[in-house]
Amino acid sequence: MYISLVVAASNANAIGGNNALLWRLPNDMKFFKNLTWGMPVIMGRKTFFSMAGKPLPGRFNIVITRNIDSVPAQEGVWICTSLEEAIEKAKATDCREAFVIGGGDIYRQSMAIADKIYMTRVHADFSEADVFFPEISVDDFGLSESIEFAADEKHAFPYAFETWTRIKDMESNG
Ligand SMILES: NC(=O)c1ccc[n+]([C@@H]2O[C@H](COP(=O)([O-])OP(=O)(O)OC[C@H]3O[C@@H](n4cnc5c(N)ncnc54)[C@H](OP(=O)(O)O)[C@@H]3O)[C@@H](O)[C@H]2O)c1
Repeated sequence: MYISLVVAASNANAIGGNNALLWRLPNDMKFFKNLTWGMPVIMGRKTFFSMAGKPLPGRFNIVITRNIDSVPAQEGVWICTSLEEAIEKAKATDCREAFVIGGGDIYRQSMAIADKIYMTRVHADFSEADVFFPEISVDDFGLSESIEFAADEKHAFPYAFETWTRIKDMESNG
């Protein structure tokens, strides 16, 4: 199974503030939904609660916590006590790809096992940010695609959809 990270980050790698996102970009939300639909999505307990503690519809929601009692049991949510257990649960779905969807703590731990990073780069700076994505190592990942979009009436900031692929996978794909 491929392990992919999906993230939206500012120029300075900011991803959140006060346990919420820092922007509203409808095209990014559509991209995220299309990419992850029908697939396992792995997230930290804080990210789960930043989405009102409700599972994303149409996906296998896997929430990681060290304290299982902190996440109420509910339909459509699997609770795991480690990243390794979350990956095992994702593999059991038989899907071709699992998506790590945040937040900062979980991204930091899963960077080493990621095959791909889908990064929406938001070209702006946010002083209120308090959670950051780790720096992508260009020794480990290559930018295989980047599509730029200008700001418009629905998107306050310009942004780019970037795909970063682990270098060994880029080489084996020629
Ligand atoms: N821009 C984006 O793309 C994006 C995406 C997702 C989230 N975010 C933002 O990121 C922020 C949340 O990120 P965060 O770093 O604060 O928290 P997080 O990564 O969402 O969750 C951290 C929690 O996960 C659990 N955890 C972490 N590592 C674990 C391990 N190895 N084993 C078991 N449990 C583990 C712990 O839960 P317990 O404390 O319950 O043990 C920990 O407190 C929010 O602002 C959110 O809006 C942004």
